[in-house]
Amino acid sequence: MASKNYILLLVSSLIYSITLGQSSIGMDNKVTHLLSQMTLEEKIGQMNQYNGFWEVTGPTPKEGNAKEKYEHLKKGWVGSVLNVRGVENVRKLQEIVVNESRLGIPLLFGSDVIHGYKTLAPIPLAESASWDLEAIKNSARIAAIEASATGINWTFAPMVDISRDPRWGRVMEGGGEDPFLGSAIAKARINGFQGSDLSANNTIAATAKHFAGYGWSESGREYNTTSVDDYTLYNVILPPFKAAVDSDVQTVMNSFGLYNGIPATGSSKLQRDILKDRWNFEGFVISDWASIKEMTLHGHTVDLKEAAEKAAIAGSDMDMESYAYIKHLKELVQEGKISEKLIDEAVSRILKVKFRLGLFEDPYKYCNETREQNLLYNEVHQKAALDIAKKSIVLLKNDNNLLPLQKGNKIAVIGDLADDKTSPLGSWRIGSDDETAISVLEGLDNLNIDYNYSRGCKLVEGKVEFTQEVIVNTTDKTGFEEAKSVAENSDIVIVVLGEHGFMSGEARSRTDISLPGLQQELLEEIRSVNSNVVLVLMNGRPLAIPWAEKNIPAIVETWQLGSQSGNAIAEVLTGKYNPSGKLPMTFPRSVGQIPIYYNQFSTGRQEKESHVFWSHYIDEENTPLWPFGYGLSYTEFEYSNMSVKTNNNGEVSASISLKNAGSSTGEEVVQLYIQDIKSSYVRPVKELKGFKKVSLAPGETQVINFSLAKEQLGYYTPEGKFVSETGEFNIMIGTNSQKLSTTKINIASFN
Ligand code: GLC
Repeated sequence: MASKNYILLLVSSLIYSITLGQSSIGMDNKVTHLLSQMTLEEKIGQMNQYNGFWEVTGPTPKEGNAKEKYEHLKKGWVGSVLNVRGVENVRKLQEIVVNESRLGIPLLFGSDVIHGYKTLAPIPLAESASWDLEAIKNSARIAAIEASATGINWTFAPMVDISRDPRWGRVMEGGGEDPFLGSAIAKARINGFQGSDLSANNTIAATAKHFAGYGWSESGREYNTTSVDDYTLYNVILPPFKAAVDSDVQTVMNSFGLYNGIPATGSSKLQRDILKDRWNFEGFVISDWASIKEMTLHGHTVDLKEAAEKAAIAGSDMDMESYAYIKHLKELVQEGKISEKLIDEAVSRILKVKFRLGLFEDPYKYCNETREQNLLYNEVHQKAALDIAKKSIVLLKNDNNLLPLQKGNKIAVIGDLADDKTSPLGSWRIGSDDETAISVLEGLDNLNIDYNYSRGCKLVEGKVEFTQEVIVNTTDKTGFEEAKSVAENSDIVIVVLGEHGFMSGEARSRTDISLPGLQQELLEEIRSVNSNVVLVLMNGRPLAIPWAEKNIPAIVETWQLGSQSGNAIAEVLTGKYNPSGKLPMTFPRSVGQIPIYYNQFSTGRQEKESHVFWSHYIDEENTPLWPFGYGLSYTEFEYSNMSVKTNNNGEVSASISLKNAGSSTGEEVVQLYIQDIKSSYVRPVKELKGFKKVSLAPGETQVINFSLAKEQLGYYTPEGKFVSETGEFNIMIGTNSQKLSTTKINIASFN
C-alpha cells in the first residue's frame, strides 16, 4: 500500500511530466523539482549504498548496524543496495523505502551480473575470443533479462580494464589486451545490458569499470598500487571507457588504484576533468567497495571524514560500503567544506538514472514473480549460451589433424576438470548455482561418444568458497597409474587440465601461470604412454605452457565457458562445430616475459645482432607462445590480392581476398592493423584498427573490405590531445597479429 507521501510524489511528478514533458524541459526539471523537496539528509541518502544486510524475508534486524541500516531505509537515507536478489526480497526492501520514507524515492538494486545470472555465458575473456560482437551483445541481453527477472535493475558490468598481465586474476573479467577490441566489446556489452529502452523491465543500467587503470596493478598482484603514464592512459586504458560513455553507459565504477599518486576515487582529473567534463558523462560514479574509506589506508586522507570530503569533491557520486557519506557529508556541508550545490549535482545524476529506468513510474516494475519463474535458465538462454561458448573456443594446435575425433577412435578422457560442473562457471557466478555447468564428460555423453574416464589426480583439496583460498593438491598422485593405463590402451587421449574456477577472478593473482598442482606431471606421464594427446584447457587467464606447446599435438583453449561448457567442447572435439576463436590476450612462454603484448613499441635495438647488445633475454625468446589474434580452424584459409588506396582526405580503403581452401565450412576473423612508421610520439609496431568475422564454405572466396578514417590513424598526446599526422603508414591484414600481409602507404594530407 503506497504511503501518502509517495502518492503525493507520484501525482506531482505525473503533473510535472504532463506539463513539463510538453514544454520539452523534461528530465532536468523533474529532478530539480524533486531536489527542491528533499532535505540535506535525504539528498545524502541517495549517495549511500549498502550491501544486502539481512535476509529480508527473515525477521527485521533488531540491533547492531543492520538495525541502523534498516532505520536509514525507512528515513530515505539509502539510494541503493547491492547483492539483494530475488523478487520477494527486492519487493520487501522497495516497499519499505517507497511506503515508509517521506518522499518514497525508489532504490537501485545492483549486482555483479558479469556474464550471466542463472544461465552463465562464457567468462568475458572467453567471449572476447569469439570476436563476435552480436553474440556478445546478445549474451549481455540475456544476462539482463534474467537479472531483471529477479529484481536487479543495475549491473556492475562490463569490466573494461585493459590488461597485459595474466598474473592478475581479473583478466578473466575483461576484453583482453587491446583497446580497439576492448572498446568494441564494451559497446556491445553495454548495448546488451541497457537495450534500446532503459525504462523497459528487462533492461538494466550498466557500469563501465574500473575507472581507471586497475589492469595495471603492479606485478599483477591484486589490489596492488598502479602507476600509469598519461600517454598509456589516453591511448590504451581510456578508449574502452570513452566507448562506454559514447554508448550511454549509466554508471562508471572507480578503481582501487592510484592515478598520478592520488587514489582514483579521489582523482578530480579522472572523474571530473576527463569523465564528466571532457566526455560529458551524464550518469553517476559509484565507488568500488570501500574505495573511499581505503583512501586513508593509501595514505591520502587522515580519516573517513576527510576521505568523504575528497571523494565527493573529486566526483565520486555514490559510496559503496564505506559509510563515509552517510556519516560525514552533512557535517562537511555545515562546515562549508562541501557545498550543497556539489551534493545536488551528485544526487541529480543518481536521480536521473532512476528516472531513466522508470522507477518513479513503477518502483516494482522489476518485481514480477511470473517472469522470475519463467525466464531463469530457460531453453532459449541455454541455446544462446551454447552458441557463444562454441564461438569462444580457440584451437591453438592441431598437428596432423588429430582433431576432430574420428569415429571408431578408442577414447580416453583424463583430468579432474573433465568431471567438474562448477569451475566452468568461472569465479563471477554470484547469482547462479554450483554444479549446473554441463561437464566435458556430460557433453561427450550428449553426443553419444564412448570413452573411458580416469581422473588422474584431484586439482584442489576440498570445496573452495568464494571468499576462501584455494588449496591445490600437490601430493596425491594415487590416480596416476590408473590414468596411464587407460591412456595406454586408447587410440587418443583427451586430457582436460587448467585452473579451478576460483584460481582466477578477483583476489586470485598468481605468480606462476603454468598448469597448477600435479597437472603438468600428469600430462607428461600420459604423453609418455600415448602420443595422440589432445589437451583441453579450462582456465581464466593465459597460461605459460611451453612444454605442452612443444610436445602435445593438439591443444584447445576452452577458458571457462559457462552453463553449456561441456556441450560446446564436445561439439568442437567431434567437429560438429569448427572452432573460430582468436586470442584476445597474448600467451607468454614464461611469466618472466610479462608484460608481453602485441602492440608494443619498437625499441632502439629491436633487431637481432651478431653480438649480445640488442633487446632480448639470455634465457628466453622474445616471442610469445601464441600471439594476440591467434586461432586455428579445421579448414584452411588463404589470403591474397591485398589492395590499399588512400585519398587526399587521408581516408584509407583496404581489401584482401579470403579463400576457404579446405574441406569444411569455417569462420575466420580477418584482422586489420596499422603502423604509424614515424610520429611525434612513438607509436606501436602495430595496432588493431578493424576486424571482420566471416563464414566461408569449402572453396568459397570473399573480398574483405576495410575503410579507415583519419580518426583511426591518429593518437592522443600525453596531454590528451588527439592528433593525426601525415606520413608513411604500414597497413596490415591477416589471420593474427603476427601473420599479416603488409602494404606501405603515404598519407600526404588530412584535409
Ligand atoms: C568488488 C569489485 C567490483 C564489484 C564490487 C561489488 O570489490 O572490485 O568490481 O563490482 O566489489 O561486488
